Amino acid sequence: MMRRYEVIFCLSDMHHPYAHPDLYPFLKALKAKYLKGISSKKIKIVCLGDELDYHASSYHESSTQLPSAGLEHHKAIENIQPLFDLFPTMDLLESNHGSLAYRKANTAGLPPQVLKSYREQITAPRGWRWHFDLTLRSGPSTIYFHHGKSASPGKLSQAMAMCSVQGHFHEKFHVSYWGSPQGLFWDAHIGCLIDWKSMAFAYAKNNIKRPVIGTGIIVDGQMQLEPIVLNAHARWIGKL
Ligand SMILES: [Fe+2]
Repeated sequence: MMRRYEVIFCLSDMHHPYAHPDLYPFLKALKAKYLKGISSKKIKIVCLGDELDYHASSYHESSTQLPSAGLEHHKAIENIQPLFDLFPTMDLLESNHGSLAYRKANTAGLPPQVLKSYREQITAPRGWRWHFDLTLRSGPSTIYFHHGKSASPGKLSQAMAMCSVQGHFHEKFHVSYWGSPQGLFWDAHIGCLIDWKSMAFAYAKNNIKRPVIGTGIIVDGQMQLEPIVLNAHARWIGKL
């Protein structure tokens, strides 16, 4: 029998070392709001991918204004350390940026077996585990998690016939609902947690849409979106 979690705390697309500078105060405020006083057995933490950016190693052109691959990785590991303390147990999803080492190895004709594991690559705690996708239960909902399969609101949820959560589409931040004789279903895109002013995201500057910085927390099977409300300098106003 699959366990039902009271709270599933989701976060996605931090793109270290290019995460939003207020990431940790924001996550700490959310942890205090949603997880305080709840048994750890009833909590699940899910990162939907793109935990690191690997900008300098990308298949796309890299900015000459940003650090080399080695320096970027060093900075990313330094920047992600507070997350190891905040959430020593976490389930993470494979993603286009997170799995870049394996994708590049494949391009070079190398099997994944010759590389370090995801955990070793970023010196993560033993409680961090990576998956292709996840299906979890909370309240009356069965929820499917994937880094990003469809940008269309409702599409993944309807295809899977259960609720769904995705990251990947940085400017998508919504919950849409649909019903069937089987019950109420919802489909969520939870935005991202990047520093969108960084040169690493310069490619997005020509788009009309801007990324939405924020995340989502599932409480008793229902998704609550939590945007980081930014001031004129793209910094968090400090209030949830
Ligand atoms: Fe991303």
